[in-house]
Amino acid sequence: MADIRDFIEGLPKTELHLHIEGSLEPELMFELAKRNEIDLPYASVEEVRKAYQFTQLQDFLDIYYQGMGVLQTEQDFHDLTMAYLEKVHSQNVMHVEIFFDPQGHTDRGVSFDTVINGISSALDKGREEFGISSKLIMCFLRHLDELSAEKTLDAALFHKTKIHGVGLDSSELGHPPSKFKNVFERARREGFKLVAHAGEEGPPEYVKEALDILKIDRLDHGNRSLEDASLTERLADSQIALTVCPLSNYKLAGVTDMSKHPIKTMLQKGLKATINSDDPAYFGGYMTENYLAVANALPLERDEIITLAQNGIDATFCTEKEKEVMHEKLNAYIAANP
Ligand code: ADE
Ligand code: ZN
Repeated sequence: MADIRDFIEGLPKTELHLHIEGSLEPELMFELAKRNEIDLPYASVEEVRKAYQFTQLQDFLDIYYQGMGVLQTEQDFHDLTMAYLEKVHSQNVMHVEIFFDPQGHTDRGVSFDTVINGISSALDKGREEFGISSKLIMCFLRHLDELSAEKTLDAALFHKTKIHGVGLDSSELGHPPSKFKNVFERARREGFKLVAHAGEEGPPEYVKEALDILKIDRLDHGNRSLEDASLTERLADSQIALTVCPLSNYKLAGVTDMSKHPIKTMLQKGLKATINSDDPAYFGGYMTENYLAVANALPLERDEIITLAQNGIDATFCTEKEKEVMHEKLNAYIAANP
């Protein structure tokens, strides 16, 4: 039997919950600040890392929005995305579905075109150079109003071929999914897949709203669903996937101890749970580190790790044929590493 660390490192993986702005490492933040002649409120990379102490989601979001201020040009967005793809390529990630937050950029004068063209050209390059397939999901910031989300959707319609889905992120408490009913309805009519962060900090009621009112195809986080037995049963019955982010849950204090992380319980209750990294530059790890964190602390059995990887393929927005190819790759790896 292969060592569990080696097994996880080599495991063919997918990533379905990644905010590209959350992959901005402090080193690149400094490089881009210099390139764009922006003053940072930190003297060094070490000082930036020291500032990453969060007790709740909002603590992180304040620093996250400040950090993305160094992203100004198409080249910056391209470089950010390439750095992420290079990293996950080294971790045997074969497919990614990544979020971006256009309002975090348009609200400070960077155009939608600049953002999407920079990210998209890197995704194309990642496909050619690394063989990583990808889809892009545009998130609405839920602390802003629905009108702002509607305008963002209008802008996205000019780039429909580059955007596969629409999501909802940022400050959850006080901003329930129902606030975005109309814009999600229009996004669905336009043919976008729908996802939403719910049950990260918010109550099970928010998850129900995301399912019933937004009619999401996949649930981001969803941890607090476990507080409601009938909701848990519903998620298991429907097999709607949850994009769970262990290191994020730990850093944002939803989970105080990795040995108490709910991923094992989720699997035992039949939920289609997957492992993802959320904002790896801020939470201390990419895909491999997120798998390892729960595999070591809970611990997880080899079969459970395999189930998580299989779920990660089933939960993509790829075609059945594309999923089959990824499953074959995963099965070959499992057979070669007994
Ligand atoms: N934006 C970036 N990361 C996020 C998270 N974990 N929750 C909500 N919004 C986010
Ligand atoms: Zn997230």
